[in-house]
Amino acid sequence: MNASVPTVTVESDDIARFRAVRSGMLALAEGLSPEDLSAQAMPDASPGKWHLAHTSWFFEAMILSTEPGYEPVDPRFQQMFNSYYEALGERVPRHERGLMTRPSIGDVMAYRQEIDRRMMDRLSRGLMSGHERYLFTLGLHHDEQHQELFAMDILNLMSRSPLEPAAYAVEPRQTTPQPAVGGTQAFRGGLVTIGHTDGFAFDNEGPAHRVWLEPYALARDLVTNGDWIAFIEDGGYRRSELWLADGWAAVNREGWMAPLYWRCDDGQWTVMSLAGRKPVDASAPVRHISHYEADAYARWAGKRLPTEAEWEHAAITDPDGFTNLFGEVWQFTSSAYAAYPGFRPTDGTASEYNGKFMANQSVLRGSSFATPEGHARPTYRNFFYPYQRWAFMGLRLAEDFA
Ligand code: AVJ
Ligand code: FE
Repeated sequence: MNASVPTVTVESDDIARFRAVRSGMLALAEGLSPEDLSAQAMPDASPGKWHLAHTSWFFEAMILSTEPGYEPVDPRFQQMFNSYYEALGERVPRHERGLMTRPSIGDVMAYRQEIDRRMMDRLSRGLMSGHERYLFTLGLHHDEQHQELFAMDILNLMSRSPLEPAAYAVEPRQTTPQPAVGGTQAFRGGLVTIGHTDGFAFDNEGPAHRVWLEPYALARDLVTNGDWIAFIEDGGYRRSELWLADGWAAVNREGWMAPLYWRCDDGQWTVMSLAGRKPVDASAPVRHISHYEADAYARWAGKRLPTEAEWEHAAITDPDGFTNLFGEVWQFTSSAYAAYPGFRPTDGTASEYNGKFMANQSVLRGSSFATPEGHARPTYRNFFYPYQRWAFMGLRLAEDFA
């Protein structure tokens, strides 16, 4: 054996995984026009073209550029496609992403191809350290997060057009929700452990730690559109006593009367989807409600939202006791997005990934139909501001159990 041969193992799996993940957003972009891909629907959303570029930039900023003497594909893309990393300098403000009509979609696709070529080359030489391997996997999971954001943002854009175009002939990754089984699952609670233990996880999922749970029960099923119509018809959006103060202010300020994308014509509810406007399906899980609405609904139903620890403990100890834990809608919890005891952000530039957003947001658990296969897990912590509604978010009720 030649001792000078470096002991780096090339995991050919890496290249296959990289290719597979990178094809996801291209599939979502297919069939959309350059105009569809360059408009920005609102400050919280980004143009499709920006997602295509930013997910490529991430590999360049976190991995490729750490090699000495690295020449960026285009130095200006550093500012244009950096989302929020202060350590990497100036950025285009998020609400101005739609103003970047250049580079063209063709130039962005060429940028992607060049990043992919450089990443394949990098991977074929083998990843150097455990940290580099973590950053590579983070880059893949980051790409998958943006695939879901791409779908959310394109739906919001289409919903703002008077034509209400269908972004796709059928909803991408269309699922058939598991049929409702009714009732609740009860848990004794006590001292339980939650948080990430093995395999890839984002930094915010760890460390594993103990929490005390009082006895509780969790609904086996998600709240449906039919349930939500009953809430609307019972004056849910007009009864201040059901709402948190900030939620009631949002109802009045925004004129909320139903979930985002819903409309009532002649007593018939319809909802804008990725496949265009459709009748509301009473048996499908409700989507596009804010934390405020989820909280008001739970109060109206005489229940409450689960804490994130309750949700995770149930998902880990009794995954078969529930329908649609994953793959339909992200589920609101009553938990504020905050650091677990002993939380340590990822080292280096990726330290800004999750930790700095730990104020004033709510944790959601599970995953949605738009979450790429294999992306989520029981310890996964998604998070949004309590007034936001454009994500594929719904709820599952909880209650105290005596
Ligand atoms: C977890 C969905 C709130 O949208 O900022 C994307 C995901 N993190 N790039 C977000 C994310 C870095 C994140 N959310
Ligand atoms: Fe990002």
